Amino acid sequence: MTTQNAGKAEPAPAEGATIENLLREERTFPPPAGFASRALITDPAILEQASTEEGFRAFWDAEGKRLEWMEPYGELYTWDLPYAKWFIGGKLNVSVNCLDRHVDAGHGDRVAYHWEAEPGETRAITYRELLEETCRLANALRSLGVRKGDRVAIYMPMIPELPVAMLACARIGAAHSVVFGGFSSEALAGRIDDAQCVALITADGGYRKGAAVNLKANADEALRRSPSVKHSVVVRRTGQEVEWSEGRDHWYHELIADQPATAAPEPMDSEDLLYLLYTSGTTAKPKGIMHTTGGYLAGVAATHRYIFDIHDEDVYWCMADIGWVTGHSYIVYGPLANGTTGIIYEGAIDYPDKDRWAQIAAKYHATILYTAPTAIRALMKYGADAFARDDLSSLRLLGSVGEPINPEAWAWYWKYIGGERCPVVDTWWQTETGMIMITPLPGITTLKPGSATFPFPGVKADVVDESGTPVPLGGGGYLVLERPWPAMLRGIYGDPERYQETYWSRYPGRYFAGDGCKRDDEGYYWLLGRVDDVMNVSGHRISTTEVESALVSHPAVAEAAVVGRTDPVTGQAIFCYVILRSGNEPSDALSAELREHVAGAIGKLARPKQIMFTPDLPKTRSGKIMRRLLRDIAEQRSLGDVTTLADESVVEAIRGQSGKDED
Ligand code: PRX
Repeated sequence: MTTQNAGKAEPAPAEGATIENLLREERTFPPPAGFASRALITDPAILEQASTEEGFRAFWDAEGKRLEWMEPYGELYTWDLPYAKWFIGGKLNVSVNCLDRHVDAGHGDRVAYHWEAEPGETRAITYRELLEETCRLANALRSLGVRKGDRVAIYMPMIPELPVAMLACARIGAAHSVVFGGFSSEALAGRIDDAQCVALITADGGYRKGAAVNLKANADEALRRSPSVKHSVVVRRTGQEVEWSEGRDHWYHELIADQPATAAPEPMDSEDLLYLLYTSGTTAKPKGIMHTTGGYLAGVAATHRYIFDIHDEDVYWCMADIGWVTGHSYIVYGPLANGTTGIIYEGAIDYPDKDRWAQIAAKYHATILYTAPTAIRALMKYGADAFARDDLSSLRLLGSVGEPINPEAWAWYWKYIGGERCPVVDTWWQTETGMIMITPLPGITTLKPGSATFPFPGVKADVVDESGTPVPLGGGGYLVLERPWPAMLRGIYGDPERYQETYWSRYPGRYFAGDGCKRDDEGYYWLLGRVDDVMNVSGHRISTTEVESALVSHPAVAEAAVVGRTDPVTGQAIFCYVILRSGNEPSDALSAELREHVAGAIGKLARPKQIMFTPDLPKTRSGKIMRRLLRDIAEQRSLGDVTTLADESVVEAIRGQSGKDED
């Protein structure tokens, strides 16, 4: 077995490897002693135990039993490839598990959410209040004729009524389909149509960087094209002028005013649909990912509890938007199932002050932060001085999700935000997986910056080559999952063939995640980005992630995005977009230095052909870099679909820059 490249030498492709293993990271961080001594998981044997079929069943059976069932389940799971079912025959209601259970146990006065609005107002909502409001809305939805099995679209800003809306749907057995509030009317209409939603819950508007976003107007536009929606429930948030369609539109506050604060929960089968969440493909029609009830709830509750090491006194802040799966699983369902006190923040983390996020963390004495690498790199760009005035000493654990985290960003997060005392859990998962799949367990795992470390107990993952043969340690290939897990998707709404085709046809019997991955000699998993982003330079398949990480490890670089551009000699050549940290200026000398830096860090074959300095990068609204657009710009092609782009002016800004070819 060849262990690829200790860094400098020109590596030959490893036997069986499909993606080169270029970057080597030597730093290790064992769990801090103070943290480990009171962690929920302290015995590493759990990983071994849960790897056997018997141990796996025992683990999830114990987690299933933590939930409150109206009728107990029989068999733990069945696996009729590619369809799994979990907690067979069990009946439960998700809202009961997230709310009533805690109130009944005497925790009604515990804060479920501290809500902080961008303009400054705040609310603390207890579990009892959340239950009562959920019941009022559940009754109101029933009064409008919404029934078990219906689908309800939700298009809202980050206000407490958003989780209330989701929980109210769960209470009456209607599946919700949350559409991120930043999406256009077109995106909303397409998703409503696909699911044939009967109702929509929205708001007049929401705040983002000081401006009021006109949600109701977008919703109205969408409803003109989506006749399945008979009722629209509107939260008054901004007080802005709105159009009103009598008979269809209802003010939320009027609708719930006279409703009782109790509502009978619908008994749901463990396999009944809890929600749909659409993942935006870059070109194809979005996929309505289906998540069901019992397995999903057990999966997100267990992973939330053990990975974030949740104790009663924690104040947990997941900074994602509830419109993404991260918010569904780790702001709403996982945390509420665990009776956690959380923070919901409506606005941008750096508005109106660069340290707005740190002010909020300090104010509520947050103990756990969970955010995305893109946010961490944005904070790096401002520098640690930007939040020097905020006391972050309450923090004890940090998390990352959504993209590979560059080792330098990881180290910065650990040092400046975590004060060198907080484990950083880099969590790999997807909308489709529903729950975190590859992750450290903070009380036992020795961390390596940039690695999501190991599969969660019971998760069976592997890294394989094109033919499906496992790649030996030290090499890179494609990530696959080989055993069902409770929160896994149950299909694509209305499109079983696409489900089969997308996830199960490339490696029959195994779930194809679409991500590149390598394992080091010790078996640590390093995610390498989407396989579509892998570059082919002179026959070497190089992950964009590794080149980006090498660039970000240079002190002048805040952020980098790397794409392959057609090259007559090498097939593809490495083209880099670089955002500098404040205090650095673009120059030819710096460009040459960065190219050398990458060659030195990961090998000459990965030496960039071209560096382009840019003030910004095109990102999706969830913060992922749109490499597809960057490829178009690098190839000087006209741009493809830009509907998921967060800020269209960025593309023009990049096109205005010049990049000089080097060789
Ligand atoms: O490419 C992986 C990346 O995000 C993809 C899933 O995106 P989405 O369904 O939007 O869900 C995001 C939140 C779970 C994955 O296929 N990704 C997510 N987390 C990581 C990651 N890549 C590397 N490291 C991670 N920790």
